[in-house]
Amino acid sequence: MMEREKFSSRLGFILISAGCAIGLGNVWRFPYITGQYGGAAFVLIYLLFLVILGLPVIVMEFAVGRASQRSVALSFDRLEPKGTKWHLFKYPAMAGNYLLMMFYTTIGGWMAYYVLKMARGDFENMDAAGVEGEFGAMLGNPALMTGLMVLVVVLGFVICAAGLQKGVEKITKIMMISLLVLMLALVINSLMLEGGREGLEFYLRPDFGKLMEAGLGEAVFAALGQAFFTLSIGMGAIAIFGSYIGREQRLTGEAVNVMVLDTIVAFMAGLIIFPACFAYDIQPDAGPNLLFITLPHVFQAMPGGRLWGTLFFIFMFFAAISTIVAVFQDLISFATDLTGCSVKKAAVRSCLAICLLSIPCVLGFNLWSGFQPLGPGSTVLDLEDFLVSNNVLPLGSLVYVAFCTSRYGWGWDRFLEEANTGKGLAFPRAVRIYIKWVLPAIILFIFLQGYVAKFL
Ligand code: PFF
Repeated sequence: MMEREKFSSRLGFILISAGCAIGLGNVWRFPYITGQYGGAAFVLIYLLFLVILGLPVIVMEFAVGRASQRSVALSFDRLEPKGTKWHLFKYPAMAGNYLLMMFYTTIGGWMAYYVLKMARGDFENMDAAGVEGEFGAMLGNPALMTGLMVLVVVLGFVICAAGLQKGVEKITKIMMISLLVLMLALVINSLMLEGGREGLEFYLRPDFGKLMEAGLGEAVFAALGQAFFTLSIGMGAIAIFGSYIGREQRLTGEAVNVMVLDTIVAFMAGLIIFPACFAYDIQPDAGPNLLFITLPHVFQAMPGGRLWGTLFFIFMFFAAISTIVAVFQDLISFATDLTGCSVKKAAVRSCLAICLLSIPCVLGFNLWSGFQPLGPGSTVLDLEDFLVSNNVLPLGSLVYVAFCTSRYGWGWDRFLEEANTGKGLAFPRAVRIYIKWVLPAIILFIFLQGYVAKFL
């Protein structure tokens, strides 16, 4: 067997796993969903789910990746007991990775466009309606959005094709570190906004009444989806990075690092956006366009706002592209693992496939806007996001849990041995009953009631 290329350093591994986790989920999805479900009370539930559901699942994904030394396209084939069918999970998992990129690249394109618009000063002296109008004009232009999407896709694959260490690891490291620093500066600025206090309260003081108004069952379902989405768990996307590391460190400590970094970024995104919403009279429940209609105002009012705004969208773009690169790395390894073709060939083919598959999301905002699959005003993006976040991720996580705890799968002892090889925080043996029975029961319950709350 050919030795796989590994990351050059532990920091590289942590930052790229964080790069996979930290993305549009933190800076775009988290604030708008929190806005839709009433603020702080929703955040509390989300944080709880991160720790009690998300953390164990990341450890399991890393363990399966490290033990198998393969992506999800082959990891179950390698670890499953002879004669079992766990490997069939590769199909929904791979489909999930594709489905995610089918809408993610479009939003990545919006970020790229906003870098340009900010730099040109397009939003200067514009009122709220003007800013919303600009966003609407972009959505109404399929050629523009397709061009942006293709740009993002090609850039992502070029980075991947440069190789794991020279491309993915190097670029992600720089992007992640600068993202953290810039966000901190923006948080400080946002906290000083006049009229922003109310926004902080909305974000930080739990009001369960508001949650009830939005519908408890739906809110809990959304919090589950968001927790899994933000950590990138449930379809092997992050598992692959376990296959690029050695056995020096235990996996729980690494998973905690990733989760903490991810949560810090999401939390900071909320601190930047909610004070701004209230200061500029924008409804926090504006939905997927929230970031794009609030932030231009913040920068307009700020001294040096054009520069800061440009930097902000550059870094949001970094967050998006680091996740895109991480998932493209998965797509490429699906192709190389399954067909044995070269990385370059896999990159070119996957690039073409993603460009084509991303078209429905683009058209959903204009030519196909009559198609409203999840109720009035919803789009192809909402449907694709719902399929991934509220279906593939929670159900896929159940597969990982079952595989790592059942004796008909990989089994608890083998999982524990892999997770606990090396130095650092150990995965506690004592939580077996919880992991095997309670955790899946919680996921399943929320999943089923979520369908009832949403559709019945
Ligand atoms: N965690 C990424 C984000 O927050 O943007 C999105 C994501 C990546 C979700 C990979 C799922 C996944 F498998």
